[in-house]
Amino acid sequence: MSEAIPDGETRNLRIIAERIRSRRTTKLFLKQEVSKQLVLDAIELARWAPNHHLTEPWHFYLLGKQKIAACVDLIGTLIRETKKDDELAAFKEESARSMPGWLLVTCQKSADELRQQEDYASVCCAIQNLTLYLSEAGVAAKWTTGLITRDLRLFDIMDIDSAEEFVVGLIWYGYPKTLPTQSRKDVSEILTQTD
Ligand SMILES: Cc1cc2nc3c(=O)[nH]c(=O)nc-3n(C[C@H](O)[C@H](O)[C@H](O)COP(=O)(O)O)c2cc1C
Repeated sequence: MSEAIPDGETRNLRIIAERIRSRRTTKLFLKQEVSKQLVLDAIELARWAPNHHLTEPWHFYLLGKQKIAACVDLIGTLIRETKKDDELAAFKEESARSMPGWLLVTCQKSADELRQQEDYASVCCAIQNLTLYLSEAGVAAKWTTGLITRDLRLFDIMDIDSAEEFVVGLIWYGYPKTLPTQSRKDVSEILTQTD
């Protein structure tokens, strides 16, 4: 049980506040592999996110070597197609190849607009749960919504039915080489308090 001291000042609150504040997106990872069990534990925890009507709209795809290689090729192809730049394509492929872990997170599609919005929100909450847990274990992540996440060829590679699911994020994860610093606006700029 935590000590009773003023609001926001209990030891556990300070720890969780620091954990949330210090999670950082990073693009540069060490080669060191992340244990599969840690990622499975993070996925188990991710699904405890709030979800309206208990739709549990998420699905997690933990990629193995073959799927990763196919995705790296697709990233290069997409750059060649859209930017007509072989050098950039090779650079992006190399950068993707250096990502130690690949996790694709999808959301169930719904014809109901409100349900779709709520389900998307839940999947985002799940990803935040996952990345916070990994961050606590010293593993950083980059949530990407790059071109590959919307290309039908990704769905073919992964054998995902694009009529049933859409990608909320491709999560690259690993032990970070460095963690960037970040800032946020002052709370006074984003908070309106009413009578
Ligand atoms: C829905 C979503 C999509 C994102 N897509 C990208 C992306 O495609 N490329 C990228 O570099 N970062 C992406 N990010 C990461 C943000 O750029 C990052 O969260 C932001 O810079 C703040 O950094 P922080 O996560 O360290 O606080 C995405 C984040 C979210 C929530």
